[in-house]
Amino acid sequence: MKSVTSRIVLVLLAVVFLLNACNEPTSIPEKSENPSQTPEASTENDVLYIRGAILHFLEDPAKVDVVQSFQYFENGLLIVKDGKVVEVGPYSALKSKIKGEVIDYSGKLIMPGFIDTHIHFPQVEMMAAYGEQLLEWLDTYTFPTERKYKDKAYSKKMSKFFLDQLLKNGTTSALVFATVHPESAEAFFEESHNRNMRMIAGKVLMDRNAPDYLLDNPEKGYLESKELIEKWHKKGRQLYAVTPRFAPTSTPEQLYKAGELMKEFPDVWMHTHMSENTDEIAWVNELFPDRNGYMDVYHHYGLTGPRSVFAHSIHLTDEEWKLFQETHSAVSHCPTSNLFLGSGFFNLKKADSLGIKVGIGTDVGAGTSLSQFVTLNEGYKIQQLQRNKLSAFKGFYLATLGGARSLELDNYIGNFETGKEADFIVVDFAATDLQEERISHSPNVEDKLFALMMLGDERNVAATYIMGKKLYERPAN
Ligand code: GUN
Ligand code: ZN
Repeated sequence: MKSVTSRIVLVLLAVVFLLNACNEPTSIPEKSENPSQTPEASTENDVLYIRGAILHFLEDPAKVDVVQSFQYFENGLLIVKDGKVVEVGPYSALKSKIKGEVIDYSGKLIMPGFIDTHIHFPQVEMMAAYGEQLLEWLDTYTFPTERKYKDKAYSKKMSKFFLDQLLKNGTTSALVFATVHPESAEAFFEESHNRNMRMIAGKVLMDRNAPDYLLDNPEKGYLESKELIEKWHKKGRQLYAVTPRFAPTSTPEQLYKAGELMKEFPDVWMHTHMSENTDEIAWVNELFPDRNGYMDVYHHYGLTGPRSVFAHSIHLTDEEWKLFQETHSAVSHCPTSNLFLGSGFFNLKKADSLGIKVGIGTDVGAGTSLSQFVTLNEGYKIQQLQRNKLSAFKGFYLATLGGARSLELDNYIGNFETGKEADFIVVDFAATDLQEERISHSPNVEDKLFALMMLGDERNVAATYIMGKKLYERPAN
């Protein structure tokens, strides 16, 4: 009798063990030069069952038949364990797996968090600076503002404000410029680490053509960057980008040292600006007469590559498009900034035809919104002016999986594949009377998504989750 009981207990234990094993997220295979997984940062042990309409992307709608590019479950279920995605699918197919309370967002849309591939955290306070194009805008407004970030306490305060604003807008990851001061990057990483957000950031390198108070020098910039890399790169979800501001504010010696950092730390990122404004391009050609154009300056110093991200890249020559292709470098397309500073129109169609990685950047403070909805809205108009159509599917792809791919982070974030980090947002299709009226006429989900892309803003973000933990909830009206 005793042995029968113990056999039953053993069988029950085995069943429980097998059930748990089935729920375990498969870990994402490491990319050879990618960040390690960061279990220390994961605090969520509970299994979450999130119900609602669910949208995520599996491929670029420009590369495959559009219906193959995404999954949309009108009544879906997302299962998350220990901060990672276990499974996603139709509620009817997955409901037998529910073993706890369901968080019910029926009627709302669950999507992967947005990824902002180019933004300056110290520039939030100077958004909407009047009247100038790039070079005058930098001298008149940007440099004096960035001066304040030498103060660590101020940088902390503004990092907090910035990250809270990102969460409010549904942005869960970003590639971020700090200022030249290491204190600014330090403060940013501390705050981002506290929130367990996957962020790439760096201290700016700049040693000429700016006020003295904002200059480092090649050796100082190198040593400060190295110290920050050693402290922060791959700490929790934090990652480092070597960040020369743009070619005009770095001497050849400094660009050389930036290239040395990339060699010494081959798994860090490189983040800069390029070919944003025609006066800027003429200036680069004057400053670097021995180089064959703007991108060749960066290429010459070893700053191109799969983890190199070039904000703007509007006025590219054929050689530069080719360099993007050959080096697998990525573009961050920044629509609101390009319109605000009168910089020009990015050629997305050409980038797609050449297979170049593109993500969306707000480029705040030249950008005029932290919202990816608003940014895509302006991006749509930039494509219209070039007789190209930016569909809602392509837009939301770019703001999620496309962004993750452009940052080489798609093994970790960007969609709801099993094992990915569960950064997701809950979106209201209609946050205003106007939106409600508009979508009541929508014939299908594609039209509803387009209306969201064109009319949406931060009011449409009902909640933001970081690795399965709710960090933002829109206050009730
Ligand atoms: N080029 C160099 N610095 C900057 C900057 O801060 N913002 C933008 N938009 N372009 C730049
Ligand atoms: Zn920028």
